[in-house]
Amino acid sequence: MSEQVKENCAPLQHLAVIMDGNGRWAKKQGLPRIAGHQQGVQTVVKVVDECLQVGIRYLSLFAFSSENWGRPQQEVDALMELLLQFLASQRQKMLDGSIRLRVIGDRSRLSASVRRALTEAEADTAGGSALTMVLALSYGGRDEILRAAKQLAEKVSAGLDLQTVDDDLFAQFLDTQGIPEPDLLIRTSGEKRISNFLLWQVAYAELYFTDVLWPDFDAQELHRALEDYRQRKRRFGLTDDQLMTSGSDLSEGESH
Ligand code: FPP
Repeated sequence: MSEQVKENCAPLQHLAVIMDGNGRWAKKQGLPRIAGHQQGVQTVVKVVDECLQVGIRYLSLFAFSSENWGRPQQEVDALMELLLQFLASQRQKMLDGSIRLRVIGDRSRLSASVRRALTEAEADTAGGSALTMVLALSYGGRDEILRAAKQLAEKVSAGLDLQTVDDDLFAQFLDTQGIPEPDLLIRTSGEKRISNFLLWQVAYAELYFTDVLWPDFDAQELHRALEDYRQRKRRFGLTDDQLMTSGSDLSEGESH
């Protein structure tokens, strides 16, 4: 499979995932919702392993949205606890596997202990070069864009020439600064929405929706999605003729 992904004319560097369906999975088993999230963490571990296997360089996971703060406090607390356990249990594996952690989202809303654990994990794994795991926590795409716009406005007030502001410059103010845009976005559980995830960054991503609930997602399902991606023709706003003549590297191409 590794070869298949690498052979793609637009190689899959960055996979983004909306991990949905934990609650429904738990309900189907007659278990509390948190059991679905626990099982969801196991899926995360499996998917990270598989991404390393196939040579994917960036994996972005929507772990907790800005809107998720509105869930019952017990569920919010349980999700934060799972996050802390995940960071502790995966620390050595991340170091051994050369996995780097990056966190995106509004950290100011996270508790001090969660913020500290995230900062430590990011610092510990900063040298990782095989796979960057981007955890979206307390994250909303509109919120990220707004925060970027405000920072940029401050720079303009301080003298930055507005005429120099283009896509590339704007992207430097996003939480994902330095991370290539996702090539493929997977959403599990049958919902067909972006739900405020990486709104700016998925402009040209291929979208893949599966009915499989996140706790049931596994390496086989991932390969199904990767195979589907391989069949897609990414045009980046160009014509078929242009695609034929411009070679394989279209990711830097014109964006329309
Ligand atoms: C959506 O399922 C999932 C979430 C809101 C949280 C995702 C979190 C995990 C997979 C576990 C934590 C991850 C890490 C990396 C520690 P849902 O609860 O909305 O499911 P439902 O739509 O079936 O109710």
